[in-house]
Amino acid sequence: MKDYSEYFKAPSLKEARHRGKDDIHHIDDAYEIPADMVGIGKGQKYYIQTYGCQANERDSETLAGILESMGYEEATDIKEAQVVLLNTCAIRENAEEKVFGKIGYLKNLKRTHPDLIFGVCGCMTQEEVVVKKILEKYPQIDLIFGTHNIHRLPVLLKQAMLEKEMVLEVWSKEGDVIENLPSHRAHRYKAWVNIMYGCDKFCTYCIVPYTRGKERSRLKEEILEEVNELVQQGYKEITLLGQNVNSYGHDIYDDYNFASLLHDVSLTGIDRIRFTTSHPWEFSDDMIEAIATHDNIMPAIHLPVQSGNTEILKKMGRRYTREDYLTLFDKIKVRIPDCTITTDIIVGFPGETDEQFEDTMSLYEHCSYDLAYTFIYSPRDGTPAAKMKDDIDKHTKEQRLYRLNDLVTEKAYQNNLIYQDQIVEVLVEGTSKRDDTMLTGYTKHQKLVNFKGNNDHIGQIVKVKITEVKTWALKGEEVE
Ligand code: 5AD
Ligand code: SF4
Repeated sequence: MKDYSEYFKAPSLKEARHRGKDDIHHIDDAYEIPADMVGIGKGQKYYIQTYGCQANERDSETLAGILESMGYEEATDIKEAQVVLLNTCAIRENAEEKVFGKIGYLKNLKRTHPDLIFGVCGCMTQEEVVVKKILEKYPQIDLIFGTHNIHRLPVLLKQAMLEKEMVLEVWSKEGDVIENLPSHRAHRYKAWVNIMYGCDKFCTYCIVPYTRGKERSRLKEEILEEVNELVQQGYKEITLLGQNVNSYGHDIYDDYNFASLLHDVSLTGIDRIRFTTSHPWEFSDDMIEAIATHDNIMPAIHLPVQSGNTEILKKMGRRYTREDYLTLFDKIKVRIPDCTITTDIIVGFPGETDEQFEDTMSLYEHCSYDLAYTFIYSPRDGTPAAKMKDDIDKHTKEQRLYRLNDLVTEKAYQNNLIYQDQIVEVLVEGTSKRDDTMLTGYTKHQKLVNFKGNNDHIGQIVKVKITEVKTWALKGEEVE
């Protein structure tokens, strides 16, 4: 295959690994619609399919905002759209397989709609192997752009419309902070708020530090202004987003950190504040105090442990031992007794023995988590773990996952039992998709509740009496 790097701005994992001392630029005026692209989308529609985490969900809100500012409207069906974007996730192989399946399916759509602009963006496009594969095998794609290039969408779209060649722009730089981008939020009462981008932790299994660049914080003023606007617009809940929110501010402030931000965001008066994700390393006492003392910071913490075995944690580059984790976990539970804690776990990390896996099971028993997202380890090209010797067969890994998932299910149900006949506060998001006579929403502790209530209360926080407990949801009735 030809060396495409001469022709395109293509990604490089080697460059993405670099962490320099250069200042990160906070840029207010990077976004521009070329004069001849203003209003170009009038009468046309766009469709965005999002894969992966909340960072991607939030990016898709920005992509939607950009397209709408060019006149496009959202399509409810992909077949109506003149612009289709797949915002992709690279975290595990099966996430990537899903995207390639969709790209294959869209080949037919492109055949019947030759003027369709078909773009791929997000974390997968930051990987050299993926971009090579697309260039070689998927000519139906018109546009590839990376996670650092979102604000360039109007310019790239223009190129894609004018040029016959595929347009590729993926910067592998460490990243800037781009402000003032338009956005179309997916929800009316709860909102994502980015507080930082990128990741510097380099856990050995993880592709994210390569796909999302250097850890960089937004200015606190920008964050607080966004939250204040959301309050004025009637939003009831925000989730502060970052790959590791604990390190918020380290890159730009000497004495202002995530605990300070939690305090200031709390003072905006928004009803509910959540945050994700927290690394168990650097989870400070000040953070625990902030959560314990501010009523509008929700007592629900996502604290990914990944493994219950210290040797595996070391090989994962996690920077804490089993004992460190348990000490933190117990400290949180003592200071905030009703706090729900959820986690992420990887089974079948290279070389994980039966005994090491049993450590994960026993840690799970101890923590009795409310919920866990569990995964079989998936090697990611370019990460250190992908080069580690792995002699554990697929069947063994699957059996471990099944056993762990049985425990996850059992604990989820047991933990929910305390809510039977209790009155909980629910932010009403709307009617249930399965049954439109029921309303649906989440409690402070992030428990899903389906209940009979007053439709006029959608968007409000109401009291609900729990009448039935299930493993993944609660059922109830609204009370006065
Ligand atoms: N294989 C399997 N799971 C992974 N995760 C991250 N990288 C991998 C990988 N290579 C999981 C971790 C992380 C969650 C978002 O995805 O548990 O916390
Ligand atoms: Fe997927 Fe990670 Fe990228 Fe989120 S940051 S979209 S989880 S690879």
